[in-house]
Amino acid sequence: MKATRRPLTNAKVARIPASGIRRFFDLTAGVEGAISLGVGEPDFVTPERFREAAIRSIKDGKTKYTSNYGIRPLRDAISAHTAKLRGVSYDPEREIIVTVGVSEAVDLAMRATLNDGDEVILADPSYVAYVPGIVLAGGVPVAVPTREEDAFRLRPDDVAAAITPRTRAILLGFPNNPTGAVLEKEDVAGIARLAAEHDLLVYADEIYDRLVYGTEHHSIISQPEMKERTIYLAGFSKSYAMTGWRVGYACAPAEIVEQMMKIHQYTVMCVPTAAQYAALEALQSGELEVLRMVGEYDKRRQYMWRRFNDMGLHCFEPRGAFYCFPNITSTAMPDDDVFCEQLLKHERVVVVPGNAFGERGRGHVRACYAASLEQIAEACDRIERFVEHAAS
Ligand SMILES: Cc1ncc(COP(=O)(O)O)c(C=O)c1O
Repeated sequence: MKATRRPLTNAKVARIPASGIRRFFDLTAGVEGAISLGVGEPDFVTPERFREAAIRSIKDGKTKYTSNYGIRPLRDAISAHTAKLRGVSYDPEREIIVTVGVSEAVDLAMRATLNDGDEVILADPSYVAYVPGIVLAGGVPVAVPTREEDAFRLRPDDVAAAITPRTRAILLGFPNNPTGAVLEKEDVAGIARLAAEHDLLVYADEIYDRLVYGTEHHSIISQPEMKERTIYLAGFSKSYAMTGWRVGYACAPAEIVEQMMKIHQYTVMCVPTAAQYAALEALQSGELEVLRMVGEYDKRRQYMWRRFNDMGLHCFEPRGAFYCFPNITSTAMPDDDVFCEQLLKHERVVVVPGNAFGERGRGHVRACYAASLEQIAEACDRIERFVEHAAS
């Protein structure tokens, strides 16, 4: 007799939907002349000096596994960088681990610290990987709404209202993907106070920390006594235009890094060696490149933000990352999914439905302005035409 067939896959994984961003990315593939404002990655090629450093490392025969924690000069440079930028010193020996992008750092942080049923508070909308990451680590996501009229800031009062005896951590992803929101100093101070009061961990995903415009990024690790309860996550993909190199890092208390390192050791061992040398060069000599790219993004941000408002799609001013998050509820489209599908079909422009980032993203779309001004201008012309036609 034949045994009953069991499901081939893990139920927890099977329940997680694939990323809503990728879906639109794949849809574009067959559309000739499409302009993509869909994927959140710099249009710049990695600066030449960083690329050269990787090539040099290969020519010098640096082709072996590195320490599981990452090459020591890179950890030293990360330590010096966070000390200079955030006023917090991490021990390169025990408190820093180099990871495969911030993606791996987020995953390691949660898997190393959560127990089954632990609640993690996060802003809604937020980066698409957070909820699946929490669920796969056995945690329970608790989404706290952020609002357009509040410039999508995460308010300490709203966080406080979501805290229960099961809350283990707060996940802060600011500057925010998808909204472009940044936190004010009082938000960060209030959230830090709550974390201390309720003995919570903070996962601080600060991958966009350098990409702020006309304002400052306030890091939670710079708050008094937050170093001991924060897992600080940062990387090279966005600020240094290095998405394909896959380098990020986590800084945290040694006790936590030790546990993160074990998972990393048994799954990926180390980040590709040449990529680590490119990242090292980025930290050592990349400051002017970062400033140059931030200047470019700022011009594009101002242009795109104005265009959306001028065409009647209300958009609050994004101050960080590289996204605009216009409200599309004034259009004739029934929802953000249909808006994106129809826009792609009729005008060949890709933007991402806001609901891919959480319930509070509904009625919005995410448009990435890490594209050339010419492309952005053409995409805005097409969107404007689409909105006008849809209304007539
Ligand atoms: C908020 C946020 N965190 C992490 C990541 C992943 O970055 P990485 O390329 O370093 O893995 C992204 C990428 O879009 C992001 O937007």
